[in-house]
Amino acid sequence: MHPPKIYQNVPTPLKVLGVSKSFRHIKVLEDISLDIGAGELVCLLGASGCGKTTLLRIIAGLERQDRGEIFMGRENISRAPPQARDYGILFQSYALFPNLTVEKNVAYGFSGRKFMKSEVRARCREILEMVGLEETRDSYPDQLSGGQQQRVAMARALAPSPTFLLLDEPMSALDAKVRERLRGEIRRLQKRLGITTIMVTHDQDEAMTMADRIAVMNEGRIEQFDTPENIYHRPATPFVADFIGHANWLPCRGIRAGRAALANASLAVEAPGDFGQCTLFCRPEDVVLFHAPREDTLPGRIVERTFLGSKYRLALSLDALEEADDRCRVLADVSGAACVEPGDPVWIHVPGAALRIFASPLP
Ligand SMILES: Nc1ncnc2c1ncn2[C@@H]1O[C@H](COP(=O)(O)OP(=O)(O)O)[C@@H](O)[C@H]1O
Ligand SMILES: [Mg+2]
Repeated sequence: MHPPKIYQNVPTPLKVLGVSKSFRHIKVLEDISLDIGAGELVCLLGASGCGKTTLLRIIAGLERQDRGEIFMGRENISRAPPQARDYGILFQSYALFPNLTVEKNVAYGFSGRKFMKSEVRARCREILEMVGLEETRDSYPDQLSGGQQQRVAMARALAPSPTFLLLDEPMSALDAKVRERLRGEIRRLQKRLGITTIMVTHDQDEAMTMADRIAVMNEGRIEQFDTPENIYHRPATPFVADFIGHANWLPCRGIRAGRAALANASLAVEAPGDFGQCTLFCRPEDVVLFHAPREDTLPGRIVERTFLGSKYRLALSLDALEEADDRCRVLADVSGAACVEPGDPVWIHVPGAALRIFASPLP
């Protein structure tokens, strides 16, 4: 893909420093800091109501923080009005004007900016070509599919070559298949333009597949700001471990000399030292299954088998965990399940390196 000719923007870092915000004495954001690199795509990921949109609106200058600073490059824009902050923004409802053509909708992105008419036209055409919609420039929004409308809205946000791109659940109105395709398209476009981007989403697959780094948010705080790989394999908190993917939790009575004591068995772990009561965590794909006892295995029984297409997910009850607490069921992902049925006895092994230790009790 060739770089754009007209589109110009200098990849610029964005920094959020100690931002807090309350609405009528209710804390919505608490001491949020983010250091976003030039050209990076960062996802704000969290459940509905955790403060994602509020943070994005503060960065956009559409909401004023109670405390904290925001830097675009070296410029402190903490108190600058929205029009003095150089970004394109796209919301959940990306309403296009039904009575304007695609090209005129995109040109609307220039309102309030100083550009010559001919330049607006050239820029609109270039950006429409980049999103693959040059053919539809004289069409009206209702002649386009949902996915195409979303791309027009994206083009409108990008046409004036803003330095930053802010996206708030931009795909949530689209069906799953279109959304999946658009993820790749938006990501490729973002990389091609080198535009520093913040995208809000509550969809972890979306965040995992698109982001350079993910900020996992929980009740107005950032739990972890890290690469998708680290978020998944090395969650910093029990919340992150539980929120992303599937988690297995093993209550542990203590760890001594590299062995973790469960209720009535023990497992080898890679621990930096000894621990008291704690919780062990691993992912379903870390669990290895055997049909006979071996060294460092725990006996259990298959409770349930679910077919997931590319694999089977087995729910196991472990003798070592006694209690019937559902959270103490262990999930194991296996590729073939020809010879395992609910009720079968099994022995599981979890490599020490795959087990993480959290000092707190079960989340
Ligand atoms: N203008 C506002 N006035 C009062 N409360 C608000 C306002 N905007 C957001 N909130 C509250 O702040 C919390 C976070 O909202 P929001 O940032 O929209 O979350 P998210 O985008 O993660 O779903 C919610 O409890 C919401 O009700
Ligand atoms: Mg929101």
